[in-house]
Amino acid sequence: MPTYWVIELAIQDDFPILQRLVNGHRLIYLDNAATTQKPAIVIDAMNDYYTKHNANVHRAVHTLAGEATDGYEACRDALKTWFRAERCILTSGTTEAINLAAHAWGHSQLKGRPIVLTEMEHHSDIVPWQMLAETFGNELRYVPVKSDLTLDMEAFEASIEGAGLVCVVHTSNVLGVRNPIEEIIRIAHNHGAKVLLDAAQGAPHCQINMAELGADMMALSAHKMCGPTGIGCLLVNEETFQEMQPFMGGGDMIETVTLEGSTYQTNEHRFEAGTPRIAEAIGWNAALTYLGTLDLEQQHGRLLEIARHVAQELRSMGMTVYGRHDDDDSSVVSFLHPTLHSEDFAHLLDARGVAVRTGHHCAQPLLNRLGITGTVRASFYIYNTMQDAEEFLMHVRNILERFA
Ligand code: ALA
Repeated sequence: MPTYWVIELAIQDDFPILQRLVNGHRLIYLDNAATTQKPAIVIDAMNDYYTKHNANVHRAVHTLAGEATDGYEACRDALKTWFRAERCILTSGTTEAINLAAHAWGHSQLKGRPIVLTEMEHHSDIVPWQMLAETFGNELRYVPVKSDLTLDMEAFEASIEGAGLVCVVHTSNVLGVRNPIEEIIRIAHNHGAKVLLDAAQGAPHCQINMAELGADMMALSAHKMCGPTGIGCLLVNEETFQEMQPFMGGGDMIETVTLEGSTYQTNEHRFEAGTPRIAEAIGWNAALTYLGTLDLEQQHGRLLEIARHVAQELRSMGMTVYGRHDDDDSSVVSFLHPTLHSEDFAHLLDARGVAVRTGHHCAQPLLNRLGITGTVRASFYIYNTMQDAEEFLMHVRNILERFA
């Protein structure tokens, strides 16, 4: 047995949900780009918090309040260390993080300047900027995706003049393509534009170093990296943080409130009005601890090998595969059969215990560019094994034999 099969099986043991049957079959969970499963350490940490430490944060001097506050703030510290970020504002997820960037930074700082986006963005990195543009009249410039599924960098360079912000997805949730972030940041900064990275799909697969990249803002979610749903963050460099204006008003983000007016906190709490997601922060910190025990680079290589094998086999069965699976790309395999509808395919796979996603994957402009309305998407993560891939392929062959 190859060494990494042993590693794969040990990782599977950490995820209780992988023991269950779905429609009488072993669960083969291949919908990781939508959300990942949670290891026992995360479930236990959240359970422990509610069982022993539950209280509100930053508000009382009693023991439980101190423990809850420490647990919540420890997540922020862990994220800053993990991503080498200067500031970390905890949000409900990537979508809220990007909306926060638009309101707290974009409203006051863009001053009507153009925003550069790409055709590859998730809706959460398009719609907030369209809404901002509706209010302030900013021009939105979209970098096209070429037929080789990469960004047209010549078009990017041509579109950057005068722009105030570039918003780009680190890794596509549909194609798995990892964009040339370093080059994009260099060009943007040379032209005086800031860069916001949507790292929802990139962060789970590689340890992104924000300081080294020089990104100004970066948005991501816990649930795509073994953490709970309902929490994410906007990581911000100090310069950008100091330019941000409070967006949501309420408890915890203030220093003083009088009937005449209020003053605001100067740290990240300034952007975290109301009771935050305490159990979720504790769960996310546990997820980081768990991922920290793995060699993510080795996992990336292993999963890419699985994805390449699956893509090759699917092509040999007559499918169109939308992805290139280069060395830095993620292990996402989007595909379509010439005649069998993607939704039917997913139902037939589900009947065999295989979970995949179908549809437009919240990236309608990209699918329009590809001339399709949806794909079947199998996305792999740390607990997936080559055996999962082989069983998935066996089910696909079986479906084609019976229905295509
Ligand atoms: N954005 C997530 C996905 O791609 C939900 O499935």
